[in-house]
Amino acid sequence: MTGEALPGEELPGGTLLTLDKVTKAFRGKDGTMQEILHPTTLAIGRGERVAIVGPSGSGKSTLLSLLGTLDMPTSGCLRYDGDDVAAMSGRQRSALRSERIGFVFQRFHLIDTVSALENVMTGLQYTALPRAERRSRAVDALTKVGLEHRLHHRPSQLSGGEQQRVAIARALVKQPDIMFADEPTGALDTETGHTIIDLLFDAADAAGMADAVSSAACGNTDDGVVGATGAAKATGASLVVVTHDMNIAARFPRQLHIRDGVVTERGSTAELGSAAQRGSATERISEADRGDRQQSEGCNHE
Ligand SMILES: Nc1ncnc2c1ncn2[C@@H]1O[C@H](COP(=O)(O)OP(=O)(O)O)[C@@H](O)[C@H]1O
Ligand SMILES: [Mg+2]
Repeated sequence: MTGEALPGEELPGGTLLTLDKVTKAFRGKDGTMQEILHPTTLAIGRGERVAIVGPSGSGKSTLLSLLGTLDMPTSGCLRYDGDDVAAMSGRQRSALRSERIGFVFQRFHLIDTVSALENVMTGLQYTALPRAERRSRAVDALTKVGLEHRLHHRPSQLSGGEQQRVAIARALVKQPDIMFADEPTGALDTETGHTIIDLLFDAADAAGMADAVSSAACGNTDDGVVGATGAAKATGASLVVVTHDMNIAARFPRQLHIRDGVVTERGSTAELGSAAQRGSATERISEADRGDRQQSEGCNHE
């Protein structure tokens, strides 16, 4: 299997994230460790749009937390832009998250006591940008999500759909490499939910276009990173959305299905629910999983 592309790795924009035999276990009530995510091997491409679908409790949020570097694998190798995330210091990991990754949650996670504008500016709080620049970028981001007339409203003065737009603007404002959304439509009615997905697609496109115009936001002079930013220009930001709504999942060109901690790949909507396809997709992942690219514990460092 050596040298063979992982699922998702043959994308035109190149690879942003890879999981290689990644697992996650938590200590259960009886004190024993329980594997919540079974060994998972896949890649997420630059600019790729991916839905993660599965029933409640299947491990969707666990998988998203690992992909977003919010949590660390129990075993296996997680690479972001080629770098072993487990080998980074806590400070490097939080810098990676605050500068390059955007998060949108079901319950919005906005600060209730400040305006929409201030909420979006928090997306840039770890940058060295002057306040006036952060403010102007936040206004731009809120304009992109159609909220230019709600800059000074507090979250409690906004509808659920508007609050989610603020959360999207907060993720978008940093011009991330990748945006993660965990059930972003779960608290919204169907129509508003679809509008939010439209906005996430637009936001991911816009993040890429912003890159093409200006790469100043990151301030990163490392050659590898500059090269990587260049690759993102043509494709936009990657977008990974957790949902249990099949109609929303169907809008994504790629779907990962998860059940009881086992991830399978779906090529198209037509395959959803098909037992035969599920079998072959499972095989595809476990084929890659059997590869000898990595040791089972962590990443290889020669
Ligand atoms: N920090 C944790 N400690 C113990 N168990 C956890 C933890 N996080 C998640 N779990 C368990 O892992 C399983 C999957 O959870 P989760 O990823 O949140 O599922 P989903 O997002 O698909 O609803 C659940 O059984 C949940 O109780
Ligand atoms: Mg969840």
